[in-house]
Amino acid sequence: MSALSELNKEIAHCQRCEIAKHRIKAVPGEGPEDAEIMFIGEAPGWHEDQQGRPFVGPAGQFLDQLLASIGLKREHVYITNVIKTRPPGNRDPLPIEIRNCEEWLERQIEIICPKMIVSLGRYSMAKFFPGKSISKIHGTAQKRDNIIYYAMYHPAAALHQQSLRQAIEADMRKIPALLAEAKSMPETEPEPQQLSMFED
Ligand code: URA
Repeated sequence: MSALSELNKEIAHCQRCEIAKHRIKAVPGEGPEDAEIMFIGEAPGWHEDQQGRPFVGPAGQFLDQLLASIGLKREHVYITNVIKTRPPGNRDPLPIEIRNCEEWLERQIEIICPKMIVSLGRYSMAKFFPGKSISKIHGTAQKRDNIIYYAMYHPAAALHQQSLRQAIEADMRKIPALLAEAKSMPETEPEPQQLSMFED
């Protein structure tokens, strides 16, 4: 069994949080172990809890469309969430739940070693761009430790709000150039670099 499948099995059995008692299925994430790009959302919703797969409800269909708009299929990217269990009633994740799940996300990133990490929504942004505001930094990227981090609105928020929808569609269109840049980066880099689409 691959390292990622082993890890996802551990995640599926995790009982660190009270909410584990109420889930139908844990939702570790899915995609190839050697994916170049990871999309990280907030938490599973009702559909994801039923199926044990990330982003399979309406927000997921929109994410699929956004990926298709830049020639990507979900089979080619890794998709996961900050927390792996659906919070009851789709409430926001609690700080303790985010902390309990942090190890899983970090181990997923370590195994996959993506060139680019895309945060979807505020909770995921908070991990990779602490202290920032999504309305200010969406569509901007930072390069750290040879990974390009890129912040986007959450597809569920953008689905029904025209202004956010245009923003998320435009932000998605910047990904191919950033990914090409990420792929051309040397394995080790002495100095942090600024690129045109990158924030200060
Ligand atoms: N919203 C998320 O943040 N993640 C999912 O998997 C589905 C909806």
